[in-house]
Amino acid sequence: MVSVLLTSSDIFRALLLTLSAVWLLSDLALAKHAGITRHYKFDIKMQSVTRLCQTKSIVTVNGQFPGPRIIAREGDRLLIKVVNHVQYNVTLHWHGIRQLRSGWADGPAYVTQCPIQTGQSYVYNFTITGQRGTLFWHAHISWLRATLYGPIVILPKRHASYPFPQPYKEVPIVFGEWWKADTETIINQAMATGGAPNISDAFTINGLPGPSYNCSAKETFKLKVKAGKTYLLRLINAALNDELFFKIANHTVTVVEADAVYVKPFKTDTVLITPGQTTNVLLRAKSKTPSATFTMSARPYATGPATFDNTTTIGILEYEKSVSASKSNNKKLPLLRAKLPQFNDSNYAMKFNRKIRSLATAKFPAKVPKKVDRRFFFTVGLGILPCSKSQTCQGPNNTRPAAAVNNVSFVQPNIALLQAHFFNKSKGVYTTNFPTNPPFKFNYTGTPPKNIALSSGTKVVALPFNTSVELVLQDTSILGAESHPLHLHGFNFFVLAQGIGNFNPKNDPAKFNLVDPAERNTVGVPSGGWVAIRFLADNPGVWFMHCHLEVHTSWGLKMAWVVNDGKGRKQKLPPPPTDLPKC
Ligand code: C2O
Ligand code: CU
Repeated sequence: MVSVLLTSSDIFRALLLTLSAVWLLSDLALAKHAGITRHYKFDIKMQSVTRLCQTKSIVTVNGQFPGPRIIAREGDRLLIKVVNHVQYNVTLHWHGIRQLRSGWADGPAYVTQCPIQTGQSYVYNFTITGQRGTLFWHAHISWLRATLYGPIVILPKRHASYPFPQPYKEVPIVFGEWWKADTETIINQAMATGGAPNISDAFTINGLPGPSYNCSAKETFKLKVKAGKTYLLRLINAALNDELFFKIANHTVTVVEADAVYVKPFKTDTVLITPGQTTNVLLRAKSKTPSATFTMSARPYATGPATFDNTTTIGILEYEKSVSASKSNNKKLPLLRAKLPQFNDSNYAMKFNRKIRSLATAKFPAKVPKKVDRRFFFTVGLGILPCSKSQTCQGPNNTRPAAAVNNVSFVQPNIALLQAHFFNKSKGVYTTNFPTNPPFKFNYTGTPPKNIALSSGTKVVALPFNTSVELVLQDTSILGAESHPLHLHGFNFFVLAQGIGNFNPKNDPAKFNLVDPAERNTVGVPSGGWVAIRFLADNPGVWFMHCHLEVHTSWGLKMAWVVNDGKGRKQKLPPPPTDLPKC
């Protein structure tokens, strides 16, 4: 036998050789597919900024407003060091990033982490897996995201191409909302008095309000294009409290991606985008340089009972002049204006949302969960809560406006839910009895019931790893019907169907689209209607779900899902990084 002739050290050496060959091979395979690590440093500091002829000091990243762009490829790892130099507690959230087994880097204050205190720092460490397109980052504490936000651009892997023609240029278009006054003062006062926070003074495009506002013409975003070229506009709604219609005068765009998932391309002249949503559109410039410029306008789609900022932000689309044209024609070109839908055009909203469909191809499949393990029915909407005796609130009988999911207005804990969960210390922090259904039945979208008082608490739903969840979100008309852009952290979900009125569990499931539903992280619950979604709870951690209208979040329209570890090695949440901020 051969082995007899071999010494034990020979065998050992041979073994080592084969083993290292295996390692080498798997390393090579990894190197081919794995991305690179990208480092960013975000210094949180104050910066004085003038808009609408008024100067104020705002919280920024690196003094920039809007904040810096993060660029990465699918598969890359990001290490973002955030250093807090301001008087406020800060956290940042990477909105829409799946954070697979990296929940410690998700960012919502008191949900996945304690805030970064003045003088402290924290490194957000996560890998972008299975996503490409546009997302954005924003502060996730109080109302600091009013000025702390910026784009996240995820390019396809190297040598991978878009499923649409390669654009000539790519341009982020970030919508924001601007207050002349200090936004932290506004929300703190509103919470103290039980009144509604002041509405904003302007909307912005890439930080600029544009010429429709007083004393603002100089602060206008301009997009210069070349005739015949195609541009990819990466639309981001980073506004706090308003869904927006967006339109470019005399142009149509082609929607190709939503929430960092490719969609079946469709043409539209007006895009509807809720806070928390991102939409990539292709803009094909006219084949000949026109003798006009065009507005790019955004203004609210608003359905609620409250007053809202009914203004329009305008940017300008300009064509580069050809040499002959610039010689012969030096006069000012006329500005053609876009006509947007009415502010309450819910028909348009419903029609637009129904057009968004997954590609559902072999390369980009729609992995809709086919079986359902748990079904939930959540009402979302406004109500009132009694104020404490020490407080004088502006509502009847010393009450304040509040908002809730299944009648529970969420109370922020004092330590992060994720820490309490990971270290088995949930006692006194949260309970796992979040209601599966509303506590009592009523005509959700009809005449409101007599008792409209909500309850409050820190309640979560706990799910075993890999639970497939079906969730119907039902708007209520208790204080008036209103569209609520619901955002789920840690997952994408599939939008199976939406409708007006009350969800009917007998007839409506037959309308569910299980073939090519939109896959996204934020969906508008139709005003006075419902939306049905599904997701697979394949990401262990604690995941926030809330209305992305900041005023509703402040009032408690939020809850969390706890997804427990699975048995497998790759089904567990790793321990927290050592620099995780302390409360
Ligand atoms: Cu864009 Cu919980 O947020
Ligand atoms: Cu809402």
